[in-house]
Amino acid sequence: MAADTDALQKRFDQLIDADDRIEPRDWMPDEYRKTLVRQIAQHAHSEVIGMQPEGNWLTRAPSLRRKAILTAKVQDEAGHGLYLYGAAETLGTPREELLDRLHNGRQKYSSIFNYPTLTWADMGAIGWLVDGAAIMNQVPLCRCSYGPYARAMVRICKEESFHQRQGFQIMLTLANGTPGQQAMAQDALDRWWWPSIMMFGPPDSESVHGDQNTRWGIKRFGNDELRQKFIDATVPQADLLGLTIPDPDLRLDEETGNYLHGPIDWGHFWDVVKGNGPCNRERLGTRVDAHEGGTWVRQAATAYAEKQAKRATEAAA
Ligand code: 3HC
Repeated sequence: MAADTDALQKRFDQLIDADDRIEPRDWMPDEYRKTLVRQIAQHAHSEVIGMQPEGNWLTRAPSLRRKAILTAKVQDEAGHGLYLYGAAETLGTPREELLDRLHNGRQKYSSIFNYPTLTWADMGAIGWLVDGAAIMNQVPLCRCSYGPYARAMVRICKEESFHQRQGFQIMLTLANGTPGQQAMAQDALDRWWWPSIMMFGPPDSESVHGDQNTRWGIKRFGNDELRQKFIDATVPQADLLGLTIPDPDLRLDEETGNYLHGPIDWGHFWDVVKGNGPCNRERLGTRVDAHEGGTWVRQAATAYAEKQAKRATEAAA
């Protein structure tokens, strides 16, 4: 038995070393499966909870066109959640179980979705910064060693790219608008900047899963490296908008070409992750209510599917 496991482990290691894909039917170490379920579920939950801050503005979008775009974006996020729950299910954990873990607070979702959306400019800042950070983090996941997750990420990243552009376009419109609109854009940047750069997770020195998951080809870059790439890409965009990044210590390091940033308030980050952010209770409460309110829809869909399956079996007999 132990010899069998050794051979399976060896085969798994070979696939990982060759930068090949692990597929659902392949043998994998329990810890690899566990960390994938954790990360993919957390990602799926983030997509689903992430619909709330923007959903808040669907009825107040400033034009029909903006409303249609925002509706499409929010629907995309629901779709991302579905692909990701599907990917997690290939690892043997049913979606109901994952949702239970979210609703009971046993699984996390991204810290970024625990902040309020106070003005229309927040729709711009979320698309530009939050989806921008998501793309930076998620493009490397298209090369993740676990096949179903990697394939789900390809489509997700294409859609996130559209989301980022629509957000930047909102910011550009406001930045070229009246002084009041410009101030609104600056205020949104002021509130979303630090939470956005916290999205990448704790510094590498405090990352629990980082090293192992990089060895397994799940992560391709550390949290700090991705954060730096995001800052380097975003500072020139803020300049173009004529907006100021709310970090008095931000400066270009001529030698490396990187923007050096000021201290990040990790105490605040962990507080939000632990459930004490401005909107944690509201977000989870809304999610649980939506799930409970949708019970009859799931029951009706299941009853219909069972009836169809029974009819198909009878027809085939
Ligand atoms: N919010 C909440 N928890 C976070 C976090 C964040 N921004 N960053 C890290 N954490 C948690 C980790 O989950 C881990 O806790 P756990 O052991 O209970 O799961 C702990 O902090 C330590 O962090 P690590 O660095 O060890 O964790 P990871 O190696 O998993 O790295 C990550 C964290 C970079 C977020 C990684 O999990 C990842 O790349 N996940 C996939 C992408 C994802 O989930 N994105 C959500 C963003 S929002 C989104 O995609 C929606 C889009 O529409 C904008």
